[in-house]
Amino acid sequence: MPTFKVLLLPGDGIGPEVMAEVKRLLNFLAKAGIADFAIEEGLVGGACYDAHKVAVTEETMAKAHAADAVIFGAVGGPKWDKVPFDVRPEAGLLRLRKDLGLFANIRPAIVYPALADASSLKSEAVEGLDIIILRELTGGVYFGEPKTITDLGNGQKRAIDTQVYDTYEIERIARVGFELARKRRNKVTSMEKRNVMKTGVLWHEVVEAVHAREYQDVQLEHMLADAGGMQLVRWPKQFDVIVTDNLFGDMLSDVAAMLTGSLGMLPSASLGELDPKTRRRKALFEPVHGSAPDIAGKGMANPIAMLASFGMAMRYSFNMGKEADLLDKAIAATLSSGLRTADIRSEGASVVSTAAMGAAIVAELEKLTG
Ligand code: IPM
Ligand code: MG
Repeated sequence: MPTFKVLLLPGDGIGPEVMAEVKRLLNFLAKAGIADFAIEEGLVGGACYDAHKVAVTEETMAKAHAADAVIFGAVGGPKWDKVPFDVRPEAGLLRLRKDLGLFANIRPAIVYPALADASSLKSEAVEGLDIIILRELTGGVYFGEPKTITDLGNGQKRAIDTQVYDTYEIERIARVGFELARKRRNKVTSMEKRNVMKTGVLWHEVVEAVHAREYQDVQLEHMLADAGGMQLVRWPKQFDVIVTDNLFGDMLSDVAAMLTGSLGMLPSASLGELDPKTRRRKALFEPVHGSAPDIAGKGMANPIAMLASFGMAMRYSFNMGKEADLLDKAIAATLSSGLRTADIRSEGASVVSTAAMGAAIVAELEKLTG
């Protein structure tokens, strides 16, 4: 039985509650003889700040580098609104992404049959939806320098964020997009703002060039990111893989998440470059939703995005594609049986706790693997 090194970073808010369901799943996989895990756990975000005055410690960073996969919950909350910018909870997540080189963030938006009615869009617009937002994750305005607030001395301040992209950063994310599309419906939509931004001009040019050079068999279209946002809520099924920069990807993936009925449904995988020697890539898996401080500690969070994120770890880091498919089936079956957490409640369905939803999904998985 293969053994994988995983680092669990539950974080803040509902993070620990949804991570508890991942632990349930890990226990099951080990007990069933499917895979064994060497599990480490660490603090990140506000929880780490409270203990160590930083958003992530060097020790945890070293464990993250050594792990086959980092499984991340969520960070942030009003409790840490006033902590210095450099050590705010989000800084822990950004450092993990940057230091591990996780440039490719895959955010699939899939509508489970039982949930087509939970979307705020008409069910015919989202039924059967299966798209990917591929977000560039280590560049752009999130990391560009200068990033400053200067006092101008006349009662005014000036804030600067810098949007910056080099050719190689656009090339490598475009390649991931084309490769993903080839295994799906073979279509890539690239989104930028080349009508306003120089980074948009270069983004468009480089994606075109990579396409012409290496991926002419894949259908490529371009959209301005604002129009793309509009098209996402108008007719999302026109898309297959959307490739976009760090900031646009952050926003468009929240929009895509809501198409599926709830932010609590959307998993993500953040992947680094393939190491030619080990044939492995660094990877972190996290739900798209945040720490949801308003419902934290109440046992009502939806664990599906977190469990499906672990499913992506099975697929992309543990070479367990078959088992990942079964986990997806178990989630779909649990929803079809009528169980709902509060965020996806619907008429006639029973609203259950985080733990009950997790237990039901693992029980379905047990049936499917048994
Ligand atoms: C996300 C989140 C993060 C981001 C925050 C928590 C820093 O919104 O992963 O989408 O902005 O990237
Ligand atoms: Mg976001």
